[in-house]
Amino acid sequence: MKLSVIKQAFLALFAISMLISCEYEFIEVATPKPPDPNDTTVETVLFSTQIEPIFSASNCTNCHGGGSPSAGLNLSAGNAYNSIISNDLVTPGDPEASIIYTYPNPISGSHNTRYGSADDANLIYLWIFQGAMDN
Ligand code: HEC
Repeated sequence: MKLSVIKQAFLALFAISMLISCEYEFIEVATPKPPDPNDTTVETVLFSTQIEPIFSASNCTNCHGGGSPSAGLNLSAGNAYNSIISNDLVTPGDPEASIIYTYPNPISGSHNTRYGSADDANLIYLWIFQGAMDN
């Protein structure tokens, strides 16, 4: 009898601790929406001034820089575009099929280092959607 009371107390404590830990797991992360590509007021994203700087700001160039870049991918200024294309990391018009968008995505990516913000990823999304131009 006594034992079962103690057991019940432990069970109750366990249940309470589970509930508390679950509360932390369920904090919601809002999934940002990329800008509407069909909105004709959206301006053309420029690779040179808007995309390339993201790679250094997000510390990608620490590994994907000059010398012998990780995975043969050089994201440093002046080299990033050609390297992204030659490594087949972009499918123009299709961001979801483009590794340069999906792999380092801060929300859904699995790379050890990812873009610093969802805004960065959204800009890359739009750049690819608009044709991934070298502009
Ligand atoms: C700490 C070093 C390091 C940093 C920082 C880093 N990477 Fe990487 N990256 C690697 C290594 C190593 C690989 C190959 C192994 C792997 O996939 O993790 C790789 C692979 C990749 C690939 C896949 C290449 C392929 O051919 O499939 C992409 C794309 C990529 N990185 C982009 C980025 C971007 C964008 C950033 C910045 C947000 C970044 N990386 C930051 C080390 C790094």
